[in-house]
Amino acid sequence: MVNAAVILAAGKGVRMRSAYPKVVHKVSGRPMIQHVVHAVQAAGITEIYVVVGHGREHVIESLSGFEVEFIVQEQQLGTGHALKQAESGIKNHVDRVLVLSGDTPLIRSSTLTSLLAWHIENNAAATVLSARVDDPAGYGRIIRNEDQSLYRIIEEKDARPEQKAIKEINAGIYCFNRSEVFPRLSALTTNNAQGEYYLTDVLSLMIDDGLKVGVVVCEDSNDVLGINDRVQLAYCEALMRRRKNVELMKAGVTIIAPETVFIDQGVEIGADTIIRPNTIIEGHTVIGEECDIGPWARITNTVVGKKVSIEAARIIDAHIGDECTIGPFSYLRPGTRLAKGVKVGDFVEIKNSNIGEYSKIPHLSYVGDAQVGIKVNIGAGTITCNYDGVNKYPTFLEDGVFIGSNTNLVAPVRIGRNSVTGAGSTITRDVPPDSLAVERAQQRNIKGWYRKSKDDQEVT
Ligand code: UD1
Ligand code: CA
Repeated sequence: MVNAAVILAAGKGVRMRSAYPKVVHKVSGRPMIQHVVHAVQAAGITEIYVVVGHGREHVIESLSGFEVEFIVQEQQLGTGHALKQAESGIKNHVDRVLVLSGDTPLIRSSTLTSLLAWHIENNAAATVLSARVDDPAGYGRIIRNEDQSLYRIIEEKDARPEQKAIKEINAGIYCFNRSEVFPRLSALTTNNAQGEYYLTDVLSLMIDDGLKVGVVVCEDSNDVLGINDRVQLAYCEALMRRRKNVELMKAGVTIIAPETVFIDQGVEIGADTIIRPNTIIEGHTVIGEECDIGPWARITNTVVGKKVSIEAARIIDAHIGDECTIGPFSYLRPGTRLAKGVKVGDFVEIKNSNIGEYSKIPHLSYVGDAQVGIKVNIGAGTITCNYDGVNKYPTFLEDGVFIGSNTNLVAPVRIGRNSVTGAGSTITRDVPPDSLAVERAQQRNIKGWYRKSKDDQEVT
C-alpha cells in the first residue's frame, strides 16, 4: 500500500492582508509550507503533491529544492475543489492520500503517523484529525452522533449557535482511501454560506454511503493550529521557537533565559554549548560543542567549530574554526573564514577574508578581501584599503606578520613573512619578508612652543 500526501496551498489567505500568498510567510525562519512538507517527509511519505493557485510562483519558489510535485488550481473554489485537481496527477500506484493544509506549520510527523496507523488498523475509508481547543472560533466543528461516531463537520459560518459552542474542531488533516474519496468529490455542491466546495462534505457523503469514517483526536491541540492572520502567525512563531529551544536543551545545550533566545528550525548546536540571553541564530547555522554564544549575538548561515566564544557579534555567511574568540562588538560578513584559534575583538569588521590559525585582530580594524597567514597580529586601527571606488583589490599578510597600530594597507599589497609595519604607516608597496616598513614623516619637536589660550585674546 502506497501513501501520498496532498498539501492544499492555493488560497490567498485574505486575512493576512499581504501581497504574498499566506503559506510563504515565514515561521521560525522558514516559509510555513516548508514545515508541513518536512513533517510529511519525516512521516515517511515521499510522494508529495502541492496544490497551488494564488501567487503560485511564490509558493513554488518557496519549495525549491524540495521533492514535490505541483498541481495548479486555477480558481480557488474551495478545499474540496482543490483536492479534486490532484485526482489525475497522483500516480496510479497510490492507495491512500493524506490531505493537509499549507497553513498548519506546527504539525508533527508523529501526529501524522498515528493518524495513518489508526486509519489502517481500523480499516476506515476516511479518518479526520480533530482537536479539542478552548477557542474554536474560525474552525469547522466536529459534530458527533450519540454513539460518538462522526455525524458531519460544520463550518463556523454555517453553524448554529449551539454548534458554535462545540470545542472539538476539524484540524483540516485527513487520511482518505483514494478509491473512495475522488469519485465523491464530483458530488460536492456549493450549497453553503461561503459558496465553496467544502472538502469536509465528502466525509458526510461517505458516511451516508455506509463507509467507515473515523475521528482521531490530536493529543496536543497546538500541533494543528491554523494560521489565518498575523496574530496567529506570531502565536505559532512563539510556540515553534519554544519547541526548538526545548529540543536543544533536551539534547544537551544550555540556554539561559530561553524566552529571549531565537533559534531557527534548521539550526544545529552541539552538546555543552551555552547560549546566553538575547541571541538570535538563523538559517543553516551549525554550532559545535562546548561553545559559549552571546549575550547579544546574531549568527546567520554560519558554521562554528568547537569551543568557540562569541559575544555581542553580528555574523553572516561565515566559517569559524575551533577555539576562536569573537567580540564583543565584531561584525563578520559573508566570506569570512577564521581558522583555529583566531581572535577577533571589538569594533572589527571582516569581509571575504581568510584568517590563518592563531592570528589576532583584537581592536578597531577593517579587513576586506585579505589572505592572512598564521600567527599574524593586526594592530588596532588597521584598515585594508581594498576599494578605489571602482574595483576591489586583495591584501596578503604572510605568516608571522606584525601590523603596527593604525596602518593603512593600500591594496593590492603583500607583506612578506615575519615583516613588521610601523605604527601609523600607509603601506602602498609590497614589503619583502623579514623587514620593517615605516612610512611616516620624522617627528619634529619644537622647543618653547607657547600654547595660546583664550586669555590671550585682546578685548576691543
Ligand atoms: C478549513 C476547513 C475547516 C478546518 C480548518 C482547519 C474546509 C471547508 N474547512 O477551513 O473545517 O477547521 O481548515 O485549519 O475545508 N485552499 C486551496 N484552494 C481553495 C481553498 C483553500 O488550496 O480553493 C487551501 C488554502 O490555501 C489553505 C487550506 O486549503 O492552505 C485551507 O483553506 P482555508 O481557507 O484556510 O480553510 P479554513 O477556512 O481554515
Ligand atoms: Ca485555515
